Amino acid sequence: MDVVLAEWKARTLSEYRCASVTGELLLWLMRLGFSSEVIQQCHKVLGEELEHSDICWEVYATLGGDDDPLECAEGSLVIPHAYGEASFDRLVLFVIDHFCIGETLAAPLFEAMTDKVAKAGPKTAVKRLAKDTAGHKDFGWAVLDEAIEQDDTYVLNLAKKHLPTFLTRVETAWGYIPERWKEPVGPEEGKYGLIPRAVYKRIFYQEIAESVLPELDARNLPGRQAWSKRKKR
Ligand SMILES: [Fe+2]
Repeated sequence: MDVVLAEWKARTLSEYRCASVTGELLLWLMRLGFSSEVIQQCHKVLGEELEHSDICWEVYATLGGDDDPLECAEGSLVIPHAYGEASFDRLVLFVIDHFCIGETLAAPLFEAMTDKVAKAGPKTAVKRLAKDTAGHKDFGWAVLDEAIEQDDTYVLNLAKKHLPTFLTRVETAWGYIPERWKEPVGPEEGKYGLIPRAVYKRIFYQEIAESVLPELDARNLPGRQAWSKRKKR
């Protein structure tokens, strides 16, 4: 059960971090002339991320977790992208990395967690996470579209420079199985909403090919060049 507890603890903090960085984004959207529609959506996403954290915490506590999963350094709750640079740069880089790439990949991963989940608390939680995360990725692409409307050449140059790093990072997190990896997630853990690394890997490559790269193509952003330029292991 250690792996199950650790995972729900990590999810609680990760969702809280999503809420915190979405709060920072909300202020930038307001200051940089984005539409009230995306500002309202951002506000909704922030609320949902906060609820996700509460839901995950409830699962963690029900499974026996009795410490505070949100204990962390304050610095880990802020947007790290291009610190000290112009807000527009920071917004674009954060949105591409966290929402357009991250949430687009996370949505089907949460969906996969609903496949084998059988215990009541985790089941309600992963279903809710899967449903909302699909909306969060749409929000991310909508913000990027408005940024492109504001200055397409500038966004293109930022994307060109940073996409290879973003893609390398997610591939390391989700598309890679370390040598001599001993998979701790089996059928029993699956009942608690966990999926093995092999499933992360399969879904990662599938979604890069079927969602992330086509969405970048649709915006004339050089996803495919970045994908071939990423650091391969
Ligand atoms: Fe979330």
